[in-house]
Amino acid sequence: MAGIENKYNIVVVDDETYICSIVTEALSATDEYQIESFSNPKKALAYLEKNRVDLVLTDLVMGKYSGVDILEHAFSFHPDCIVILMTAHPTVNNAISVLRKGAYDYLVKPFKLETLKNAVQRGLKHQELARENAHLKEQVALYELAEAIDGSTSLDSILHLAVDTAKSVIGDGAVSVLIRDKKDSFPIPYLTKGEPGDSEANDFLKGTNDLCHNALLSSESQCTSKEIKDDKNQRLIRSLAAYPLVSRGEVIGLLNLIQDNRFSPLRPGQINLLSIIASKIASAIANNRLYEHLQSSYHKAIKALANSIEARDQYTRGHTDRVTVLADLIASRLNWPEEKRAELKMGCTLHDIGKIGVPDAILNKPGKLTREEQDIMRVHPLLGARIVEGIDYLQAAVPYILYHHEQYDGSGYPHGLAGDDIPIEGRLLAVADTYDAIVSRRPYRKGASPAKAIEELKKFKGKQFDPVIAEVLINAWEEGLIGQLNIYSDNEQEVLETA
Ligand SMILES: [Fe+2]
Repeated sequence: MAGIENKYNIVVVDDETYICSIVTEALSATDEYQIESFSNPKKALAYLEKNRVDLVLTDLVMGKYSGVDILEHAFSFHPDCIVILMTAHPTVNNAISVLRKGAYDYLVKPFKLETLKNAVQRGLKHQELARENAHLKEQVALYELAEAIDGSTSLDSILHLAVDTAKSVIGDGAVSVLIRDKKDSFPIPYLTKGEPGDSEANDFLKGTNDLCHNALLSSESQCTSKEIKDDKNQRLIRSLAAYPLVSRGEVIGLLNLIQDNRFSPLRPGQINLLSIIASKIASAIANNRLYEHLQSSYHKAIKALANSIEARDQYTRGHTDRVTVLADLIASRLNWPEEKRAELKMGCTLHDIGKIGVPDAILNKPGKLTREEQDIMRVHPLLGARIVEGIDYLQAAVPYILYHHEQYDGSGYPHGLAGDDIPIEGRLLAVADTYDAIVSRRPYRKGASPAKAIEELKKFKGKQFDPVIAEVLINAWEEGLIGQLNIYSDNEQEVLETA
């Protein structure tokens, strides 16, 4: 059922009063319909602007007005209403024309009252199906939102989808999501869609409104409706709804909605649906914060692991950080995406983790390593890969750990891979790692100058190093970009200058 007092609202328009009476009387036999009839089409047009209407029965020719005027006016205010035309002067062209404009049926006068009743019943049934279909689409959108939240860690994409879903539920209006940075702080607008265009509505979307404050304080949704005028001075019912985003009993933000509707405030079904969307948004924000916290903990653990290696070797202190910065400079010049660059940072931080298994006597030996000692040192890529192999989160670091000592001509270790058979992660890190190794002090020698390191890259590109990647770092140095990184301390600079 639909309309006022659960009745369908039907409007009958015919300039012949007796037709209005007969049609009204015939349809009044059932109490399912609330009927308004008009012999004056102008009054019918005015009625359509201010009242909810489910079905319109209109004459086709009424002096200077036509049934098409009524039909177009009805659709502009009630897009899903059913319009049935009546005429005593049928032509095929007329029939085709009004059906094309969206009329549901076309009755030829004189018609049997049964024919009229059947047409009205069929029309309303059709409308009910269309409305159920629209409701189903809302449910599908909600399902898709839930799926997206389960399958994505990108808060931004989830919130865009959630706001789009909320907007499709309310129709004309605007939606904003506001998020608190920390407990009890003022929620900051994260995303707004729709432009209500007046200051009161804009304040509400920004959260500076009593309704928003009440939602934050009470942890309960707040909803209000009032009549306003639109740009054309026509009556609108504006609903404002503020939903607190609650996670573990804490309000972490707000979902604010404004709906402008000509005839009714937000329906209970819409209010329930929006409250589900608000709870999905709250879950997505809470999950995202948990994920970020987890990531930060992982990064701290990785850093602690890397530091444990450097703590044993005063000569390589800071090497990991410098190699990470140099490698990221190369990656940025190669236009690697953000996600890949985040993996690169993890890989660089962990690349020498296998040195944990190399004895101090070898790691800190002031002279050249013997053949046996070199063999032990050369195990560190394999050992490092074995250390992280059981940790899913660290898998992206494996190519950096395992292949950073492979050489382009196949003379490296541990596998002796050559050319593009060496994963690009290993080829890239080898360039940054070697550059820093040349300019840094070692137990058995002083650091060389950057110019010397670049000379080595030029000399061995295509042999030890991937020529393209080596060229990227050479160019960066020639453009002065490595100097701008400020990754070498004054002390080391002194060493470099005297080397
Ligand atoms: Fe290494």
